[in-house]
Amino acid sequence: MIEVKDNVYWVGIKDWDLRRFHGHELSTHRGSTYNSYIIKDEKTVLVDTVWGPYKEEFVENLDREVGLKNIDYIVINHCEPDHSGSLGYLMSKIPGTPIYCSKHGEETIKRHFHGDWNLNVVKTGDKLNIGKSDLIFVEMQMMHWPDSMLTYVTGSNVVLSNDAFGQHYSPVSLFNDQVNECELYQEAIKYFANILTPFRPLIKKKIEEIKALNLPIDIIAPSHGVIWRKNPLQIIEKYYEWSQPDYSEGNVVIVYDTMYDATKKMAEAIGEGLLKNNVPYKLYNSSITDTSDLITELFKAKAIIAGSCTVNNGPLSSISLIMEELKAHKIKGKPAAGFGSYGWSGEGAKHISETLAKNGFNVVNDPIQFKYQPTTDELNLCVEFGEKFAKSLL
Ligand code: FEO
Repeated sequence: MIEVKDNVYWVGIKDWDLRRFHGHELSTHRGSTYNSYIIKDEKTVLVDTVWGPYKEEFVENLDREVGLKNIDYIVINHCEPDHSGSLGYLMSKIPGTPIYCSKHGEETIKRHFHGDWNLNVVKTGDKLNIGKSDLIFVEMQMMHWPDSMLTYVTGSNVVLSNDAFGQHYSPVSLFNDQVNECELYQEAIKYFANILTPFRPLIKKKIEEIKALNLPIDIIAPSHGVIWRKNPLQIIEKYYEWSQPDYSEGNVVIVYDTMYDATKKMAEAIGEGLLKNNVPYKLYNSSITDTSDLITELFKAKAIIAGSCTVNNGPLSSISLIMEELKAHKIKGKPAAGFGSYGWSGEGAKHISETLAKNGFNVVNDPIQFKYQPTTDELNLCVEFGEKFAKSLL
């Protein structure tokens, strides 16, 4: 048990070994943590649990540090199994303990556990007095499930925000002032880009609502990664920035897949054209780049140029996947273009360009494509294509 502030303690689990999450969907190069918290007042409250594989270790720790019989209330901010996975095992030990959750949380807990438990529904603004402190609940729908909510502890001014403001990051230390800031922000924005981007309009509104509550905030303690203790409001400001539809970090991303390097040569020539106009770019081969990392880069990009050779009348599968991921994450509205090589039919680049347009990108150049290997003249045309694209951004 580690003190977070005053009467709030961390009782979570560090998962150093985790490398894939959400099944195998998301990469977690730096592991993750499942942060659970104990609030000790006249009543003792457990906020969230940890993922199921750690249930025995978690409940043993709780029993040793707190005593299971001393837990008066349980708050489930969010029922996804990485946070509620130990609840069934815990409730088998303390079956009558009241559980507080949102309206959607009630349904979600029932559907996950099918237990006859003492569920108490709370909504935004509801308070639960636990002695000197109150717990105030704020619903956080779609950050990132319908059931999500946060719990605010008065007196210590600690926000237990669950997934919001988290990171899949498991350093030795528990607080943001004790870790490498660059690593921390790499993981925070990757988390946002991969998990929260589809809900950006809702997040923007929710951040405005949280700010309007004017609650004094000394600590933001999410359910993954480190706790924001030094300047905790920085991550709320970052979320507001990241939730803007035109958020970008200024560079173009060229993403391509290639069979025999023709499309790769075109990608490099297009990049040369961008640089001639001082537009910085990053280049990724989607077939060998981690998809979660690539989504993060595409989220941060000012504009996207995507290319593939043609196979079976369309692009290679890694580019098709990236098109689907962009659509699913609702990453759109950026300037974009398609390119690629082909053999006997030229649908790959056209398909990319049409898909980008259909999915809400602003396609600024007609697709450029060449048969088999590009000649020097054709590569020069790719440079010109890059220059024209760069000028459209200026
Ligand atoms: Fe960390 Fe939505 O679970």
